[in-house]
Amino acid sequence: MILLALLACDDTQFPSPPGGTAGAGSDYTAMQALFDAECTSCHGGAGFALGDLDLATDACAALVNVDAPNYAPAKYVVPGDHASSVLWNKIAATPTFGDSMPQNQAALSSDYVDGVAKWIDDGASCGAPVDTGDSGDTGDTGTPPPADYTLASVQDEVFTPYCVYCHAADADVGGEYAYAAEYPLTEGDSYATLVNQTAIWSLTGMKRVTPGDPENSFLWRKIWGPIDDQEGRMMPYDSPQLPPEKLMLVYGWIATGADAQ
Ligand code: HEC
Ligand code: HEC
Repeated sequence: MILLALLACDDTQFPSPPGGTAGAGSDYTAMQALFDAECTSCHGGAGFALGDLDLATDACAALVNVDAPNYAPAKYVVPGDHASSVLWNKIAATPTFGDSMPQNQAALSSDYVDGVAKWIDDGASCGAPVDTGDSGDTGDTGTPPPADYTLASVQDEVFTPYCVYCHAADADVGGEYAYAAEYPLTEGDSYATLVNQTAIWSLTGMKRVTPGDPENSFLWRKIWGPIDDQEGRMMPYDSPQLPPEKLMLVYGWIATGADAQ
């Protein structure tokens, strides 16, 4: 039952960009609203910029005529040419530059994709946001508040709701799920299970959590990747990937030192 609930809960995670129908426009204000609602949870808003791309601080400076380091010689945004722009490519239906964005989440609606194309084709202007005075907001409301990178919040928002169904010493699950009881993530147990403990399924002997280093923590690899084919399944096992806010909470907890509280 719990698993079914998890499987069903996905599309409430991304509110539409603020400002109602104004959100799908093609000016820079609309771009910022879109980034705040769909992208900054991973790209800058919570203090971490995955892929080294910060769309929260100054998206224009981060994008327009800027080389995309992983896809050289391509640029994120080539004014006047959406088809050559990595930004548009990554949100389009069939990206050719790596994974589609938002990564592992539902694709953006075509209204937003077309709005980004038009913004680029119109010259990718970065004029100051215009307050139209109607219900439309200028775009900050979708940015998540600074996260609280404590074990307590990771426990309450990630481990307890998503993991202890299997990862508990007394989990009432059978078959292949039962292995998870050996690494309990229940409140009071999770720290001792994770921090500086060698992961059983890691081929390279990685710790489950190496404080300060999410990329070299098997916990992060198991919820985000990459893992080897021989390193078991991605977590949560048999359920969709965690939403970005939850992922970034785990990332932030590890990156800020994986404190015990
Ligand atoms: C769940 C986290 C997540 C979300 C949400 C997300 N991204 Fe990303 N993004 C990543 C990661 C990780 C990378 C680096 C790996 C890659 O390029 O596939 C990345 C890379 C990118 C890149 C290429 C950067 C580079 O040079 O490698 C672009 C452009 C991008 N994202 C745009 C967006 C946009 C636009 C949105 C919102 C519509 C978005 N992303 C939402 C995680 C995310
Ligand atoms: C449906 C049961 C189930 C759920 C839910 C689940 N896991 Fe797992 N987990 C397993 C099983 C079974 C294994 C061992 C096999 C594997 O790694 O694929 C495992 C392995 C792991 C490992 C590797 C431990 C090691 O020492 O190698 C980590 C880390 C992990 N899980 C974290 C999580 C996290 C974090 C969540 C919640 C976001 C979660 N799991 C949710 C069943 C589950």
